Amino acid sequence: MRILSGIQPSGALHLGNYFGMMRPAIELQHQGQAFFFIADYHSMTSLFDPARRRSNVRDVALDFLACGLDPARCVFFRQSDVPEHCELTWLLSTVTPMGLLERCHSFKDKSARGIPVNHGLFAYPVLMAADILIYDSNVVPVGRDQKQHVEVTRDIAIKFNEAYGETFVVPEPRIRDEVAVVPGTDGQKMSKSYGNTIEIFGDEKVLRKKVMSIVMDSRTPQEPKPDADQNHAVKLLRLVAPPTVAQDVEDRLRAGGYGYGDLKKTLFEHYWNFFAEARARRKELEANPDHVESVLRDGAARARVVAAGVLKRARRASGLE
Ligand code: ADP
Ligand code: TRP
Repeated sequence: MRILSGIQPSGALHLGNYFGMMRPAIELQHQGQAFFFIADYHSMTSLFDPARRRSNVRDVALDFLACGLDPARCVFFRQSDVPEHCELTWLLSTVTPMGLLERCHSFKDKSARGIPVNHGLFAYPVLMAADILIYDSNVVPVGRDQKQHVEVTRDIAIKFNEAYGETFVVPEPRIRDEVAVVPGTDGQKMSKSYGNTIEIFGDEKVLRKKVMSIVMDSRTPQEPKPDADQNHAVKLLRLVAPPTVAQDVEDRLRAGGYGYGDLKKTLFEHYWNFFAEARARRKELEANPDHVESVLRDGAARARVVAAGVLKRARRASGLE
């Protein structure tokens, strides 16, 4: 089984990224041949600050390695170190119907919100298809918001195969239902673009403040809360605390006499402990930037061997060779 996933270097990673994508991906590295990359080409559709791109790439690399990505078990690389992705994007774009891209949320949402959309953003699902198909990937672990892009990838692979004969493996998305959508501090989907994130790493004071600012309703501590299982702080607690702790908190809320302040304090404590080991590992890695760079370089060299082979297959199939 070949597993592949990518993440954009667009800012500090948060709990949504961790539970929706990073952890499932890290677990899958034990079940097959895994490829993970930092999607810096993708970040160019919406980030225009070169220094920030560089530092974001470094931060994402640190976050992933600290969270348990093992470069000895998987291939971890920076997308732009494998320029074959771009050539394959062109080949795929010529079999991609415009309508398929016009239906994509990523582009539709941004243009509906009045954000000026460039061609890169419109064509982004084709680059994503190339990212996936160039490694003959079978399984793509992503959060639910990326499901449509994996479906577009399947359509593009099928179209190419129909036009030029069996060339690409048709991949499948892998979405975990229990963590499909991690809620943010306001109860909406946690996302950088909504300003409701709780980061995996960062300053303790700042993060405690974020947890304590999670929006709740106005019921007093005494009031019973029969809907405690729908509470978004409880949903977050279930992710970072042992099941018995989360259940106990839920029961207390239901019974009444347990307030939201206590809930959030408990949440912070478990969240902070949950990432303690990763935090220590990140500190060590930060002190050794050459090591991180060499991990990415080595990953790119290994990725490139596979990518070049699949690209050659597509070039041959389509008559470029
Ligand atoms: P953001 O919404 O903060 O910009 P990205 O779109 O860069 O996050 O997402 C990176 C990865 O993390 C994707 O695979 C995405 O599905 C996953 N992800 C992001 N936010 C969440 C969330 N709140 N719940 C579950 N998965 C998420
Ligand atoms: N589009 C994904 C995101 O924004 C990142 C990504 C790029 C990706 N290429 C990919 C994810 C290929 C999985 C497979 O989150």
